[in-house]
Amino acid sequence: MPSEPALELDGVSVSYAGLRALHNVSMVVPQGAAVALLGANGAGKSTMLRTISGVIRAERGRIYVHGQRIEHRPAYRIARMGVVHVPEGRGVFPSLTVRENLLMATSAMSGALDPVEEGTALFPALGNRLAQVAGSLSGGEQQMLALARALMAKPKVLMVDEISMGLAPIIVGQLFETLRERVAAGISLLIVEQYVEAALGMADYGYVMDKGVIVDVGEPADLRRRGLVTAYLGGAA
Ligand SMILES: Nc1ncnc2c1ncn2[C@@H]1O[C@H](COP(=O)(O)OP(=O)(O)O)[C@@H](O)[C@H]1O
Ligand SMILES: [Mg+2]
Repeated sequence: MPSEPALELDGVSVSYAGLRALHNVSMVVPQGAAVALLGANGAGKSTMLRTISGVIRAERGRIYVHGQRIEHRPAYRIARMGVVHVPEGRGVFPSLTVRENLLMATSAMSGALDPVEEGTALFPALGNRLAQVAGSLSGGEQQMLALARALMAKPKVLMVDEISMGLAPIIVGQLFETLRERVAAGISLLIVEQYVEAALGMADYGYVMDKGVIVDVGEPADLRRRGLVTAYLGGAA
């Protein structure tokens, strides 16, 4: 029996105060796959992730996680199904220390190893910063902390929103390497990115969005050949 997709959207529409942000969006993230969601600012990428997380509600359409309908479930129940969202911006508690951020990540987790040990094993750079408040870390260190917190929740479906924003390429490379390892270990990944080539380089499939609509879908090589990514993102690399 073919395994069910980790995540599926079927005809999802979302509006903000009457203004359509997503229109009839359908998407599949197969189990164990990495899917890149690409598109210019305002295309609706973050709205899609927030809708999947249950933070905002779809007005139409269905969302499935491992075959179960979730679009009416509260966000905490969706999170408990293993859907973990690293939001746009820095997903850390800025006034707490790195150690406190790591400790708080695991309150919902069963069979915890030492969360501080686990987090610093993932990103050794955090080990030297444990007593520092997260808001005073560099952008790259904050994203490492955000990703460490997300991974300690043992996600089945991980959604990452523009984690590379404003970071040096070498740091982006480290974060992507960690994501790549997790996909190899079986996580399903939905990655929203501005670094189109970096995202397509690790993705099995890509979706291109424009103004709330999916305008192209395919394997990275097909997307590159059709050129719509560049057309919609104005050649951003
Ligand atoms: N909280 C909000 N209230 C009203 N409109 C919003 C809100 N968030 C996003 N939008 C609008 O929805 C559209 C999609 O935004 P967004 O999902 O943030 O796009 P992206 O992440 O692709 O840049 C944009 O037109 C944006 O202005
Ligand atoms: Mg966004």
